[in-house]
Amino acid sequence: MTQRLSGKHAVLTGAAGGIGLAVATAYLREGAKCTVADIGKNPTPELAAVMAAHPDALLYVPTDVTQLPQIDALIAAAQARFGAITTLYNNAAIFDMAPLLESGEAMYDKIFAVNVKGAFFVLQKVLAHMVAHQVQGGSVINMASQAGRRGEALVSHYCASKAAIISYTQSAALAMAPHKIRVNGIAPGVIATPMWANVDALFAKYENLPIGEKKKRVGEAVPLGYMGDPTDICGAAVFLASDEASYITAQTLNVDGGNVMS
Ligand SMILES: NC(=O)c1ccc[n+]([C@@H]2O[C@H](COP(=O)([O-])OP(=O)(O)OC[C@H]3O[C@@H](n4cnc5c(N)ncnc54)[C@H](O)[C@@H]3O)[C@@H](O)[C@H]2O)c1
Repeated sequence: MTQRLSGKHAVLTGAAGGIGLAVATAYLREGAKCTVADIGKNPTPELAAVMAAHPDALLYVPTDVTQLPQIDALIAAAQARFGAITTLYNNAAIFDMAPLLESGEAMYDKIFAVNVKGAFFVLQKVLAHMVAHQVQGGSVINMASQAGRRGEALVSHYCASKAAIISYTQSAALAMAPHKIRVNGIAPGVIATPMWANVDALFAKYENLPIGEKKKRVGEAVPLGYMGDPTDICGAAVFLASDEASYITAQTLNVDGGNVMS
């Protein structure tokens, strides 16, 4: 145990599984207290197992990030349990896709409600909380994507939603610089999570591929030669949350095996 996050209290949205839960587990290992938010009324079995291992350091608060009063309730519950929030892992998102000419209003509203509106108001409300509590060493990590770096014919709404996250990261970093609160992003490439089962099935439909084929192809195309695991995000997530990154703000870090170069 290196305890690089000792004394921190992190709120992580969309962290009942996938990348968010892997990061919550890494934060706990590094000594942070964690408040996990996700849409389900009860913790998933995977989250329940982590909670059982860390009964004094992990709180679950059911939260739909599209509902602003629920974000307020999350912040209040987090503060009541572990004190002021020092760290935000702004992670909740959904995926959907269709050819651009068929990407309609319902899909737009659904994706933007979670990935942009939800992420923005979680960001804004947690930052307001950090400023009000004069938090020292405050750090926000917004989950972007390689999809936010470049458009895709079949994935227009999701790509646009992740480009918005990169932009909000830059604006919020500038707004928070006087308060010494850092705001950064992580742009993963392809990571094997529950989200990717859905991505693979949708590509199979629109590109007429067997199930599993898209996942195999994108993994082989990564310069490092394989699809990432959720734990492949944890090193960057811990570093950006830690005081070791105290001079880094307004950046979105590609954690993608070499897919995007900058
Ligand atoms: N898996 C990848 O290849 C990949 C690549 C790039 C970026 N990302 C991003 O990483 C983050 C985590 O993705 P993941 O792959 O772990 O996906 P995931 O589907 O496993 O996790 C997303 C979580 O968000 C939750 N969620 C959805 N809607 C919500 C809402 N309204 N309120 C609260 N929680 C809600 C889901 O329940 C789920 O637990 C996302 O922001 C995603 O866009 C993932």
